[in-house]
Amino acid sequence: MGCSFTVAIDGPAAAGKGTVSRAVAAHFGFAYLDTGLLYRAVGAKVIGGMGPCEAARTLAREDLEAEGLRSSAVAQEASKVAVIGAVRDALTAFQRDFATQEGGAVLDGRDIGTVICPNADAKLFVTASAEVRAKRRHAEMQHSDSSESLAQVLADVRARDARDMQRAEAPLRPAQDALLIDTSNLSIDEAVSAAIGAVNAKRTKT
Ligand code: DC
Repeated sequence: MGCSFTVAIDGPAAAGKGTVSRAVAAHFGFAYLDTGLLYRAVGAKVIGGMGPCEAARTLAREDLEAEGLRSSAVAQEASKVAVIGAVRDALTAFQRDFATQEGGAVLDGRDIGTVICPNADAKLFVTASAEVRAKRRHAEMQHSDSSESLAQVLADVRARDARDMQRAEAPLRPAQDALLIDTSNLSIDEAVSAAIGAVNAKRTKT
């Protein structure tokens, strides 16, 4: 057994992946990478006028701290640049390096268990109905200055799901050996406990 332990957490937008991933990483003392942020940072540079392949090739750490990466405009652009194979390829090495660092790592995204880390030690697929995800995202937005209606947020969630699932390159889908966690009717604590339990079961096996 080596010193690295990789947890792959995939799922659609606003299913609770980020919350679950951060909690799992904190519980086990693993490093955490939100891979959506890489695509968002590329999307933001494209909105700023750069070509998507150049944006991905030249991506630097400080780009991940740019303002506005959480906006819905950047999310949609991220989902658009994410269909481009050359963009995905340019981001692969960084993610794989992160995954195999000593001490363990949690990566969340869309294709971690299927493409980036097919040999991950534990794989989870965190999902929820589109309606529940839109409601959560809309409630979150009440704390910001955004004024999107629930119907608009639901339309955005569905558009992003369709693009993420139907693309040819690394589409969003559960790995065969992923444990499915549907958070539609779970509290945050329940979802986190299910995830920690699943990772623990794998840890005692390796
Ligand atoms: O997880 P997120 O909402 O921050 O991701 C933004 C977009 O980036 C998402 O709609 C699709 C893309 N993405 C991807 O294609 N592969 C990943 N591993 C992570 C995100």
